[in-house]
Amino acid sequence: MLYPEQIIEEVRLRNDIVEVVSGYLKLERKGRSYWGLCPFHSEKTPSFSVEPNKQFFYCFGCNRGGSVIQFIMSIENLEFVEALKFLADRVGITLPESEDPKERDRAKRRKRILELNRQAARFYFKTLAGENGLEAQNYLKNRGLSAKTIKKFGLGYSPTGWDELTRVLLENQFPEDLLLESGLSIRAKSGELIDRFRGRIMFPIFDIRGNIIGFGGRVTDGSMPKYMNSPDTPVYNKSRELYGLNYARSSPSKRLLIVEGYMDVISLHQAGIDFAVASLGTALTKMQAWILKKYSEEVIIAYDSDSAGQAATMRGLEILEEAGCNVRVLIMPEGKDPDEYVRNNGPEKFKNLIDRAISLLDYKIGVKRNMHNLDTIEDKLKLLNGIADTLAEHDNPIERELYAKNYAREYGISYESLQEEINKRINRKSRAGDYSTSMRDGRGRRLGGQKKEDFDTRYSELEYMLLVMLCHENRFYKLISENYSPESYRDRKAGEIARKLYKKLEENKSCVLAELLSDMDPGSASYLVRLSKTKGEISEPEKAIKQILNKLAILKLEDLQKQTIERIKNEQDGETRQQLGLEFSIRAEKIAELKKMV
Ligand code: UTP
Ligand code: MN
Repeated sequence: MLYPEQIIEEVRLRNDIVEVVSGYLKLERKGRSYWGLCPFHSEKTPSFSVEPNKQFFYCFGCNRGGSVIQFIMSIENLEFVEALKFLADRVGITLPESEDPKERDRAKRRKRILELNRQAARFYFKTLAGENGLEAQNYLKNRGLSAKTIKKFGLGYSPTGWDELTRVLLENQFPEDLLLESGLSIRAKSGELIDRFRGRIMFPIFDIRGNIIGFGGRVTDGSMPKYMNSPDTPVYNKSRELYGLNYARSSPSKRLLIVEGYMDVISLHQAGIDFAVASLGTALTKMQAWILKKYSEEVIIAYDSDSAGQAATMRGLEILEEAGCNVRVLIMPEGKDPDEYVRNNGPEKFKNLIDRAISLLDYKIGVKRNMHNLDTIEDKLKLLNGIADTLAEHDNPIERELYAKNYAREYGISYESLQEEINKRINRKSRAGDYSTSMRDGRGRRLGGQKKEDFDTRYSELEYMLLVMLCHENRFYKLISENYSPESYRDRKAGEIARKLYKKLEENKSCVLAELLSDMDPGSASYLVRLSKTKGEISEPEKAIKQILNKLAILKLEDLQKQTIERIKNEQDGETRQQLGLEFSIRAEKIAELKKMV
């Protein structure tokens, strides 16, 4: 362990789980817990719960659970130490000076690159305003951008000379390797550093804190490539960023509109549609989908209507759906992109397109319809089968029914027969066994179809249950530790946890479940929280603990009985056999007695 336990616990205690989770999803209070749509699987009705008094979360749909630390690990996709840093930062705790000089060095370099980017942006902006920027200025004017917009987005122009920016930066004492690392300079064959961006309109890319993390540069003529972009650097990760989010996140609208390009975002913002962001040419990533979900209640996709745009829409939809976003698709009129459309038709017309954006299901089915021309019965059959496929994949039964009724009417068949086709598919799927969300044990193995050879769930579940109860009811420490020492645990991992927990309680400290979870992997944490939630609140904890201890004792004795039977079978020596027989019957009595006590 890299950090002392007290510090981990302080970080956990200072980060209220309700507050932290609320930064990612909407929670609603019902009774003692808060509920929301699970960020870890796709759902339409909330099964994700957060318990303020216990400081843990649990999803009844996908069985994920844990403390605030596991939540951050999962949602930000971080390792334990990174998650701890993230949460420490959030509440202003300084972790002991980074033990790791490499990490310290990295942080320093990141800061330097951000400075470099800011200087570069200023340089590009000045160049655009100067004599050498006249042509670029005209270009932007022709594309309808106002001076105010240019300033707001910090647009600039990179001069056509080979190394104009590089020279300025070197003069300002930035070292060569930093210039290379920032992506602003590249090394020419001659060995000299030259500018990456030359003769291009420059679009600085901001993160939500307003740092300039990278650039895109567009040519002003038809030459190729149309855009050049900063490579991934220590401060810029394409798969995480959304262009325009720094402005869109403070829009009063609860929606986010996702478009393809820089120019689309800028044009839309200028037209007052201030909730547009762009995924910047690359396919939408899971991380971007998370971010979209975090900052909006509804995501509207407005990609170009060309076939590349359509394919991107389909892929994007799947990712957004998986991330649990509410998604609608804006249908762009033939051959237009949002920038052109809003420039030619004005904001009101564009807002109409937003209002008419269609649901995910309608979009998917629409795409299928366009593949068939519906002249023949065969074609129509194929389409209807496709509709049944799509609807069967949809998990909300009410919506399924509404859509089935609509489509049945539209294609002149009875609702019953379409519904029958849908049900057939759903049944087939559940028979095939979709285990993806079924219960798993602490090590990610599926429970139920247990593998006896390496994992004895008879013990594990009881042992973990014992640990959970002990966390909830510290006062029963003596009872439990006297009857079941850490060495008694058959589940190796449960034994390790027990050792830690017993030690804390031995030192007269208390320990709650959330604390115990702190440095566990998300799988184990989920498992413990699941036990705690699904076995319910126990009204008579002492009785319950005694029952568990009792069951464990019976299990152990019964296992010994089985071994004894085997030995009797193989034993040649009569006297030994008799001895074993005696042992067997004494133990049998003991088991009978224990069973009476349950
Ligand atoms: P578009 O070709 O739709 O560009 O590419 P655009 O933003 O609408 O630009 P205009 O209207 O032609 O000026 C969409 C996005 O894909 C990325 C850029 O991020 C662009 O904004 N892209 C495109 C590249 O990275 N490189 C390219 O060569 C082309
Ligand atoms: Mn465009």
